[in-house]
Amino acid sequence: MLEYFDARQASLKIADLEATALAKEYGTPLYLYDASIFEIKYRKLREALPPQADIFFAVKSNPSLAIVSLFRSLGAGVDLASLGELQTALKAGVLPQKIVFTGPSKTDAEIEAAISTGIFAINAESERELERIDRIAHAYHKKFPVGLRLNVGFAPKERTTVIGGTAPQKFGIDVARATEAIRLAKGLRNIELIGIHIFNASQVLEAEALLNNAENIFGTAFELSQKTNTELRYIDMGGGLGIPYTDEERELDVGTFGRGLAKILTRYLEKGLPKNLRVLVEPGRYLTAEAGVYLTRVIDLKESRGVNYLLVDGGVHHLLRPTWFPTGHPVRVANKLNQPTRQTYSIGGPLCTALDYLAKNIQLPPVEVGDLLAIFDVGAYGFTESMPYFLSHTTPAEVMVLQGQDYLIRPRLTPEEYLKSQVVPEPLKFFS
Ligand SMILES: Cc1ncc(COP(=O)(O)O)c(C=O)c1O
Repeated sequence: MLEYFDARQASLKIADLEATALAKEYGTPLYLYDASIFEIKYRKLREALPPQADIFFAVKSNPSLAIVSLFRSLGAGVDLASLGELQTALKAGVLPQKIVFTGPSKTDAEIEAAISTGIFAINAESERELERIDRIAHAYHKKFPVGLRLNVGFAPKERTTVIGGTAPQKFGIDVARATEAIRLAKGLRNIELIGIHIFNASQVLEAEALLNNAENIFGTAFELSQKTNTELRYIDMGGGLGIPYTDEERELDVGTFGRGLAKILTRYLEKGLPKNLRVLVEPGRYLTAEAGVYLTRVIDLKESRGVNYLLVDGGVHHLLRPTWFPTGHPVRVANKLNQPTRQTYSIGGPLCTALDYLAKNIQLPPVEVGDLLAIFDVGAYGFTESMPYFLSHTTPAEVMVLQGQDYLIRPRLTPEEYLKSQVVPEPLKFFS
């Protein structure tokens, strides 16, 4: 929660650059990323984790090519979930051996692309997927490495429902069928089962809860490997490391998490897990959320039945999260950063839906038309998880501030541009 920004100044700065100047140069609505925050978060986690743990950045949290490139340059691998994300990772220069592919409903084309690229492993989500990987791998004349994603009966409490904990779900294979699924995998000639993947909760802020979960993950993987005589080369713990979105929430203590994980790992290595076992950690939100700020300009003000509305040029077509998660995101007036909050406002965008509120009943300094609002902690699941085409607005630009310099990393897509690729059937054409 604003940990990385100095709220005592008169106006918001992103790595020493004035947010108001960037908004003038690039226009609004605008996503701004401070590269130094991505780096701080990555290094904090890297230093905390034991050396056997590899960080595989979850691309889905923010798939901008520049951001994936940044994590590649820091040494991260990637976890991805689609052909598009695979293309992004390769274009960003991620080595195939540092890529793992996880997620339900993988198509044959995606599986084939992963195999032909020679990625580290595919985490299979069903028995049928194991068979499909086997069939597709047949043409490549080598046993392709796979992990088995399990849907287990334990989970830390999710602050926001992303994965769904222990409920019936589309992710993974129910643990009750795990032994059979492993036997099935071991009987297939073109795949080699080398890993277990368990990811059951996102946005967890308590190190103890993550460690209890890790203990259960290692216990499950160890038991299955013993029972089925399978030599595991990796255990993939998924993502789940949270960030504080509100004043009440505290930062996750990654030091405690890392030290606890090292102890769990040592214990299971002593029990008999292979000495060269890798532990994959796939953080998304933890690495990206706090580096992103969404800037939107106030277009109009109105009062309706006692509620003060700020009507802005951005909305949930660019940042859908506030509609799902009522705790919302911290908001400040970028050009009145240190002024006392004296008014209660709700912030609405231009969309024709009652969902289009970026915040409700929040305290801000008195706001005027033309003020610039900054919505924080939007670097994860921000633009990427939204619905940009609703109402045919121009999409937001994305700018990264890196080493004191601003870079436009994703230009706006204008209606002219997305109209270009659309086709009107001949009988419906309008000739002026
Ligand atoms: C397979 C997988 N790994 C990692 C992540 C990243 O999770 P988080 O952002 O909670 O770290 C996700 C998110 O949905 C996921 O599905």
